[in-house]
Amino acid sequence: MTRLPEPDDLGAVHEPEPDEASPPEAAEVLSEVRRSLEDLLLFEGRWFVTPPDVVAASAAPARPEPAGGEGSAAAEAPVPAAAVLSSFHDEICECTRCPLGQTRNRFVFGSGNPEAGIMFVGEAPGEEEDLQGLPFVGPAGRFLTRIIEAMELSREEVYICNVLKCRPPGNRDPAPEEVATCEPYLRRQIEIVQPKVICCLGRHAAHALLKTEAPLSRLRGTLHEYAGIPVIVTYHPAALLRNEGFKRPTWEDVKWVRRQYDGVEPRGRA
Ligand code: URA
Repeated sequence: MTRLPEPDDLGAVHEPEPDEASPPEAAEVLSEVRRSLEDLLLFEGRWFVTPPDVVAASAAPARPEPAGGEGSAAAEAPVPAAAVLSSFHDEICECTRCPLGQTRNRFVFGSGNPEAGIMFVGEAPGEEEDLQGLPFVGPAGRFLTRIIEAMELSREEVYICNVLKCRPPGNRDPAPEEVATCEPYLRRQIEIVQPKVICCLGRHAAHALLKTEAPLSRLRGTLHEYAGIPVIVTYHPAALLRNEGFKRPTWEDVKWVRRQYDGVEPRGRA
């Protein structure tokens, strides 16, 4: 068993007493030095060889730490995105920062895999979403489900949310002040989920995320970026229900989303 050091033993190298009969052998001195160093490492741990601030920086977690004592298993494991997302939901679900907080039935946070590789971002909840508290569950949502399934994924594997979390009365377009108020929520969701690719469904999502007012026709077909994440813009599923002609280009866009997700097309469009 390794011997732990005595307080005045740490780092001490044995010096021969003048009256010792013979000087210690070199091997003996070396083994004494080694033992002292081993003791020092055991006693001081990594702090001895690496400054504490360097150790702390290299151990910094990707997601926030849960409450827990230093050295506990909980303190070392990153908090799962599901827990972070759920506590963020609880924090904002009573929001009344804009007038839509007074007229909504349900707050529509988002749904799907909290660690999804693909995030779909729509505009705002419609009538059915407002009643159920879930995004894209009305007619446009059913079409989105078909698109996701055609990509050989399920709704549970991706993450779906909107720029606005509350329904604008009569499904009118989101007002700029509503977007400005609600958008930080979307940004935080992206930060938590950390998707590999974001697909903006329609111009409202694209305008909010990309800070542009360019028409959809100019935004489609270009690989944009938000916080280092590739962003692809396509038609809103509700537009596909009104115009059959948008289906083929949408299919091309979502195949591109899938390739980005699969990591088989790092740049541009093949
Ligand atoms: N349209 C959207 O943009 N989002 C929904 O959740 C439903 C319809």
